[in-house]
Amino acid sequence: MNILFLASELYPLVKTGGLADVAGSLPRALRELDQDVRVLLPAYPEAKERCQSLTPVAELKLLNRPATLLQTTLPDTDIPLWLLDAPHWYDRPGDPYSSPDGAPWPDNAERFGAFCWAGFHLALNRLGLGWQPDIVHCNDWQTGLVPALLSLEAACPATVFTIHNLAYQGVFPAATFSQLQLPKALWHVEGLEFHGQLSFIKGGLMYADRINTVSPTYAKEIQTPTFGCGLEGVLKRRSHQLSGILNGIDTDKWNPAADPWIPQTYDLQSLSRKQANKLALQRRFELPAGAETPLLVFIGRLVAQKGVDLILQAMPNLIRYPLQFIFLGSGEDGFEQGLLYWSRRYPKRVAVHLGYDEPLAHWVEAGADIFLMPSRFEPCGLNQMYSQRYGTVPVVHRTGGLADTVVDATPDQLANQAATGVSFDHPVVGAFQEAVKRAWLLYSQPSIWQRLQRAGMMRDFSWRRSAAEYCWLYQQALAERKAGHPPTFRQSLPPY
Ligand code: ADP
Ligand code: GLC
Repeated sequence: MNILFLASELYPLVKTGGLADVAGSLPRALRELDQDVRVLLPAYPEAKERCQSLTPVAELKLLNRPATLLQTTLPDTDIPLWLLDAPHWYDRPGDPYSSPDGAPWPDNAERFGAFCWAGFHLALNRLGLGWQPDIVHCNDWQTGLVPALLSLEAACPATVFTIHNLAYQGVFPAATFSQLQLPKALWHVEGLEFHGQLSFIKGGLMYADRINTVSPTYAKEIQTPTFGCGLEGVLKRRSHQLSGILNGIDTDKWNPAADPWIPQTYDLQSLSRKQANKLALQRRFELPAGAETPLLVFIGRLVAQKGVDLILQAMPNLIRYPLQFIFLGSGEDGFEQGLLYWSRRYPKRVAVHLGYDEPLAHWVEAGADIFLMPSRFEPCGLNQMYSQRYGTVPVVHRTGGLADTVVDATPDQLANQAATGVSFDHPVVGAFQEAVKRAWLLYSQPSIWQRLQRAGMMRDFSWRRSAAEYCWLYQQALAERKAGHPPTFRQSLPPY
């Protein structure tokens, strides 16, 4: 199959979170399955710097402004990568979505609207590149207009839309609709309108031939009011075309046996060497170095989704015990200040590194004993998988991808050698504290602890299986398109 893959971030070129990891890995895994996959990404400055030999291959006019398509390849592959170069939209400091002070760019609708229009032209092979995709795979709201625009074409590729996080929807004032030169036929409640506003994500949810999300449990959760973010009705009605495919991880980059960013490599056979990473990490953060003290860590965006508030609420209780904590993350000021408070008050017990640091994230995973991930919701989550691969035991709220990837240390699962972590059911501080204490109790029994570590390290989280599932999903979308069925949702829907 010819697959056009669209994403707004991609590791190692530009990353704010897990979407970048997926966009950096899934196309490679598809390539290994002999698919002809090509990728479109906005030409952010860091992406241009990190790519070699950029060749202009097409000139475009998007929303009345000029843009150039630059061609290169994904680092260390032969996968074609197109960068949409439009300096007035993408040549900015900060991350793909926000200025350096964290505020979203005021013209994000235009920036990603133009990106969608470019995806639309590529999908229809209208840029003189001589390549016609069979499938257009869109990811998250930044690409949501593409299935909507394609739905108005008589002949077009099949479309797949992946929800990485339903909480981010790309909703803008109604006036944006005409500014983005969108066809009027798309403005209705069964189209791009969402409570009188323009919703990018609805383009994917309403018009893609197939929708999927990044874990089976999250695919079910988003059909309920608690997790549906107001779109549960839409998703429930498309449930027969909605599935969950668990993300994989890049097992080459996240490999404790060959990780260049950790002081001491190790594997299942040499697990005891993991401790050297812990001692070095404690020194790096000026915590008293000691093998016995449990080291609990958190890595991630400091936002409500990740349950940072639960951690902060639990700190007055947890700090009474002989535990050490390291936090690596950046995000909302209140959470950053909250963590800094604890590190200033207990500098020998709590350390905080505010910011984004990929090599340090590897070291923290390698040096930690316990990884805290009490996310209120988690479409998939990658760090709990990295942790298991690094023999670091995750403590997770049983939701979304965390429910699908961590096996709770119940007596039965421990006896079966299947347990890999500790899960709790309700995202409340008491349940989280109890889970942490349960993990600590297990830690104090070395033979049981090692069993947990080893079971986690033996799990296969590689992309191969997930990529095969994506191929199957593409085939379903394609078969439906070839049979001439438009997405059933487009036909007759009751008003809602
Ligand atoms: P999300 O995409 O919701 O942020 P994921 O668990 O899917 O959550 O992915 C987060 C990714 O970003 C992981 O690869 C994680 O290691 C990385 N990450 C998050 N914050 C930081 C940070 N401060 N420094 C380094 N890596 C980080
Ligand atoms: C989102 C989700 C996260 C998921 C990632 C990649 O950022 O929050 O759970 O792992 O996308 O799919």
